[in-house]
Amino acid sequence: MWEAEALAEAVLSPEPEPALMAALSGKRLLITAGPTLEDLDPVRFLGNRSSGRMGYAIAAQARALGMQVTLISGPVNLPVPTGVTHIAVRSAQQMHQATLSRAAQADVFIASAAVADFRPQQRSASKIKKHGDNNLTLKLVQNPDILADVAALEDSRPFVLGFAAETDDLVRNALDKLQRKRLDMIAANRVGQDDCGFDADCNALSVFWPGGQADIGRSSKAEVARQLLALLAQRLQEKLA
Ligand code: PMT
Repeated sequence: MWEAEALAEAVLSPEPEPALMAALSGKRLLITAGPTLEDLDPVRFLGNRSSGRMGYAIAAQARALGMQVTLISGPVNLPVPTGVTHIAVRSAQQMHQATLSRAAQADVFIASAAVADFRPQQRSASKIKKHGDNNLTLKLVQNPDILADVAALEDSRPFVLGFAAETDDLVRNALDKLQRKRLDMIAANRVGQDDCGFDADCNALSVFWPGGQADIGRSSKAEVARQLLALLAQRLQEKLA
């Protein structure tokens, strides 16, 4: 087993692979990525701006470090990283079912998907028509919280890393999600403010865990993924020790 110091160095080292591979190789990673789409009718849906790039970058880096990776993805336009098992879903309910049926077999769960918090109460079987000048009122119901449900598993609970996408109060909201959802780690990113984060090639993260914190500066999503996995490996080692 590698010492925590060696893994901490790996975060800064340009060649961290030996220490990271020793910590993560063979471990089973289950990861969600991309958006979920919530259908209103056969041609319309509620969605969001997630491109899947952050989650796919983590999946690719994890695979390169020897992890066995299962990627549960909403609809995106990205190639599946080589060697990664890919499960395509569309809605939050489908992502919830696909994730919960596999979570107990995973060593690590990472929730990088931008899951819709709400879905239309009813999906119309035919295209919704305009009726005169009337407005249309949609009734939305809450989707299940995939991350919270995995973190609440009592048997065979994996190490759980959540994301937080925040426009305001990043630290307070991330710490609230860490505690409320009983996570092992949370990676918070600012969204909606500049060209980084959602639907972009770069990202920056503030990562929190009980009693600790680290920042990953603005960089490519591949580099951010590598540094995030190094932090995760360190925490995982400490938890398993
Ligand atoms: O896909 P990209 O374009 O590369 O963009 C990356 C990203 C910005 C989408 C990603 O870095 C990110 O922040 N993902 C989480 C987005 C999100 O939904 O955050 P949230 O703060 O609303 O949700 C908190 C956590 O709960 C997330 O881990 C989310 O996956 C999870 N969640 C939320 C709702 C729900 N019903 N089930 C969940 O599992």
